[in-house]
Amino acid sequence: MHYISAGESHGQGLTAIVYGVPAGLSISEEQINADLARRQSGYGRGGRQKIETDRVRVTSGVRLGKTIGSPIALTIENKDWKNWESRMAPFGEEPEELVREVTPRPGHADLVGALKTNTDDCRNILERSSARETAARVAAAGIAREFLADVGVEVFSYVTSIGGVALEEDDPMKAAPDYKPLAIELSPVRCPDDETTQKMIEAIDEARKAGESLGGTFRVVANGLVAGLGSYATPRDRLTSRIGASLFSIPAIKGVEFGIGFEAARRCGSAVHDPITVNKRRGFLRTSNNAGGLEGGMTNGMPLIVTAAMKPIPTLMNPLATVNLDTLEPAEASKERSDVCAVPAAAVVAEAEVAFALADAYLEMFGNANMHDIKAAIKAYRQRLRTASR
Ligand SMILES: Cc1cc2nc3c(=O)[nH]c(=O)nc-3n(C[C@H](O)[C@H](O)[C@H](O)COP(=O)(O)O)c2cc1C
Repeated sequence: MHYISAGESHGQGLTAIVYGVPAGLSISEEQINADLARRQSGYGRGGRQKIETDRVRVTSGVRLGKTIGSPIALTIENKDWKNWESRMAPFGEEPEELVREVTPRPGHADLVGALKTNTDDCRNILERSSARETAARVAAAGIAREFLADVGVEVFSYVTSIGGVALEEDDPMKAAPDYKPLAIELSPVRCPDDETTQKMIEAIDEARKAGESLGGTFRVVANGLVAGLGSYATPRDRLTSRIGASLFSIPAIKGVEFGIGFEAARRCGSAVHDPITVNKRRGFLRTSNNAGGLEGGMTNGMPLIVTAAMKPIPTLMNPLATVNLDTLEPAEASKERSDVCAVPAAAVVAEAEVAFALADAYLEMFGNANMHDIKAAIKAYRQRLRTASR
């Protein structure tokens, strides 16, 4: 299952096409809209979120609430388009009100994108490198999430730090799978601890006052996975590399850790690797989950736990130094309306990317024609693993 998206931040809207979807999967527009709303939320977001109320429109591939095995097309309207119609029109004369963006922002795609595409108007670049595009990903991943829910997999995320404020957890690998997604959504920064939530909000307020921006870290968890998704056989097949690539495809993600991640490099082997045990009812198990559910490029049946780091937002209300692309004189970087912190939203986008990678791995292993056959294949496989453990 894969997707492709198109659409500019201030264009008419965003489009995603999801292909490789099996027939007979129930799809709920309301569920996709709920995920889109989660992506728009989070303390620290900018004015754009007040303009948009993202709603998906499914225009193909779904009939009477179920997939029919064809590509699924999803669109999201940009309400802000009405303010940009002349400046972003696909055709026509250059309007008088057009102001070219000639002061690229450090940390964004502006400068290198302009050099690469031979323009002095960074708008051509920022319209697509803007994280508005991630709304299309979240909508598309709604299909992957429905698939995973149907085969008993739950994917959720929570924020573990914003700037210098971090959630304290004695044993994060033990705690992560048991957090309650509903409780996380009640926190304005999507952090499961009330006291840390408050401190994170204060840090964002201070950053806003100072004309600053903040990054942070978040964790994505998937419960209920079968062992064996992905493969050890070729570099491309390793689920570790596929999930890593998916997460690094999100703008501003600068680090990814599986399980205890970099901490593993500091410990001895016996304090890292997860002892194997067997249980008649549940099959092969581990007594710890430092690996975060992946060994040898495959899921090992334990919860998948992956942590990612997001750099601070590049658009600053106290802008950094840049160079005017027309005059080549020193200038201040442009101040596009912007988020102060988008870590809670990035975590929702990361859920979407992880959901896609996992759904794709399931379909690769169990076929992709229709849900009935896929679920029967998963059941038989689970039964074989249980029998092997007796
Ligand atoms: C959900 C989300 C929201 C973002 N919001 C903004 C924003 O409002 N302003 C901004 O300058 N960058 C924002 N970013 C970050 C930029 O998209 C990102 O820093 C930029 O594309 C360059 O990142 P890269 O070097 O990783 O490609 C956001 C990123 C995400 C994931």
